[in-house]
Amino acid sequence: MSARRVALIGFGAIAGDIATALLAAREPGYALGALLRPGSASRARVPEAVAVLSGLDEVAAFAPDLVIEAAGHEAVRDSVPGCLGLGLPVLISSIGALHDEAFFAELVGTARKGGGRLLLASGALGGLDYVRAVRHAKQLALRYESRKPPAAWSAELARLGHDPETLAQPVTLFSGTAREAAALYPQNLNVAAALALAGPGFEATGVDVVCDPAAAGNMHIVTATSEFGTMTLEIANRPSPTNPKSSWIVAQALLAAIDQYFSPVVML
Ligand SMILES: NC(=O)c1ccc[n+]([C@@H]2O[C@H](COP(=O)([O-])OP(=O)(O)OC[C@H]3O[C@@H](n4cnc5c(N)ncnc54)[C@H](O)[C@@H]3O)[C@@H](O)[C@H]2O)c1
Repeated sequence: MSARRVALIGFGAIAGDIATALLAAREPGYALGALLRPGSASRARVPEAVAVLSGLDEVAAFAPDLVIEAAGHEAVRDSVPGCLGLGLPVLISSIGALHDEAFFAELVGTARKGGGRLLLASGALGGLDYVRAVRHAKQLALRYESRKPPAAWSAELARLGHDPETLAQPVTLFSGTAREAAALYPQNLNVAAALALAGPGFEATGVDVVCDPAAAGNMHIVTATSEFGTMTLEIANRPSPTNPKSSWIVAQALLAAIDQYFSPVVML
């Protein structure tokens, strides 16, 4: 069996962890490419075993079986439409980019036309299988709370007149819908966007963003109540040692998704 061909968009903390694990995998193993912008500082981090790709034509020539975006919202806009247009499946981690309805519809249209597929990663969150199962419940109430230490929101706290260093009590920075949250904090709320898309959509998913000096890491709390029952989920993620803005688990979640993508046994 020949090696599976995977193209990574970006080569930061998450893609770096993915590449290390995939390059160590055997039988059939992986051939990797990394799509990076010309002049990107990340080019220096790419190991020799990974082909550096500079544009869509080089992605096409690399002929990946799967493309994985771990590069941010701008990269979703820059590169994902082209990859879908080539008929490729693209697993994206920067799901917050999909809060823009028109852009999301364009991606879906391109995927349909070109034969590509947009695959959405669970990323830092769990429980999306349950949320998908109750998405059509008549009495569904879905709420997501992000609870992070002050360091994660220092600029926002300062804007509200709080000193992140001396904050003693939790402060709620935002309370509203997932659509408003994703538009206000596009880089921080990939998880809220994933939940909204698994569940009843951006308008019907409630979001609270809380800054808490006592938070044990980046915490995600999800409650789903419906006529089918109740789910309460609490996750406390450790930051990535390479990029404290990202949770360490995200690369592992993407690796699990890659494994599922190629596996003859799929858990849905
Ligand atoms: N779904 C989730 O739960 C979740 C959690 C954490 C992060 N993320 C997403 O993953 C992204 C990557 O996280 P990270 O910790 O690896 O970030 P990072 O800053 O360590 O790395 C980002 C990489 O992307 C590259 N890049 C940036 N813009 C690009 C573009 N337009 N085209 C190609 N490459 C580009 C950078 O050069 C760098 O190599 C985040 O921006 C975030 O959107 C999702």
